[in-house]
Amino acid sequence: MIVRETSTALRDENGHIIELRGTLRDVTAHIEQERLREQMLEELQATNKKLKETQSSLVQQEKLASIGQLAAGVAHELNNPLGFVTSNFNSLHNYYQSLKKYLETWEELLPKLKNGNGNGSASHPCIVEIEEIKKQENVNLIFKDVEDIFGECTDGFQRMTSIVKNLKDFSRIDHAEFIETYDLHSGIESTLVVARNEYKYVAEIEKSLSDLPLIECNGGEINQVLLNIIVNAAHAIKSQGREDAGKISIKTYCDDVYIFCEIRDDGPGIPQQIIGKIFDPFFTTKEVGSGTGLGLSISYDIIVNKHKGDLTVKSKVGEGTTFAIKLPIKSANMIEVFAHE
Ligand SMILES: Nc1ncnc2c1ncn2[C@@H]1O[C@H](COP(=O)(O)OP(=O)(O)OP(=O)(O)O)[C@@H](O)[C@H]1O
Ligand SMILES: [Mg+2]
Repeated sequence: MIVRETSTALRDENGHIIELRGTLRDVTAHIEQERLREQMLEELQATNKKLKETQSSLVQQEKLASIGQLAAGVAHELNNPLGFVTSNFNSLHNYYQSLKKYLETWEELLPKLKNGNGNGSASHPCIVEIEEIKKQENVNLIFKDVEDIFGECTDGFQRMTSIVKNLKDFSRIDHAEFIETYDLHSGIESTLVVARNEYKYVAEIEKSLSDLPLIECNGGEINQVLLNIIVNAAHAIKSQGREDAGKISIKTYCDDVYIFCEIRDDGPGIPQQIIGKIFDPFFTTKEVGSGTGLGLSISYDIIVNKHKGDLTVKSKVGEGTTFAIKLPIKSANMIEVFAHE
């Protein structure tokens, strides 16, 4: 029991105490109430803090979800027309090749016809007309130009297809839900073949690969991450417009639980003020039309969320950038992720 004591003294005119009055109050319940009130206040404050945190993470998730839905919608809408336009374009290219062959045969035959088939007779008047039209219509120039146009269009279609694919992967419309045994070194090799066109003029590749165990993962997705990082490195080096070749170094090693892959470039580096944003969806410093800003956010999602690994970056302006991938050898966690999707 807790008691509160109060006492008062009554005095006569000379100041002598003539009576003492005292009270004792049982304040146990009151103090207990106070304690409870304080405890509840603390709990309320903690809940409020938690609520605020949950709210901001929900807003963030909501934002990402709507970006994902938007991306999925755009990819879905674009996929069909892009498919038939690309396919028709390829047919057109094949038809053009046949027509070209036909016209080239004409070209070869014309001089013979012009010289009266070599038997001394005069050339047919139609041949003169054909040659005139050829000049008038700039046929030689068209032949040359058409090849360039086909080349540029092919490039454009490939870029569109890759943007749609990126959007699809980001929103995971049709991600493969299976886990395979994956050899990171083969993955690196095949990715280097695919990325070759991006780095071959600007950088040399240096590899330092240790013995690695096979890992359980979705190999296609890991290759996509490697591709994003290697292409980014090549683009970064290219952006410097330097005369010497840059260097992209790939290093692998492992411990008992994880394998590690570091991809380093000696490009311009990433300024401190933007390094925190590079994994955000749609963050890009590239010109409009040349980067979607999805590469690293997709990579982060693949490595960290889906494979329960880690993807980190270290960079120094003027020295270069290193991306470090860490992946579990066994995929127990990942199965859980896929199972809940
Ligand atoms: N190795 C690097 N060196 C310097 N900057 C880099 C490097 N890798 C990424 N970045 C920066 O991070 C940004 C985001 O990269 P991310 O791959 O997500 O998008 P992107 O390359 O701009 O476009 P895309 O969607 O085509 O990949 C880049 O625009 C660039 O500013
Ligand atoms: Mg990129």
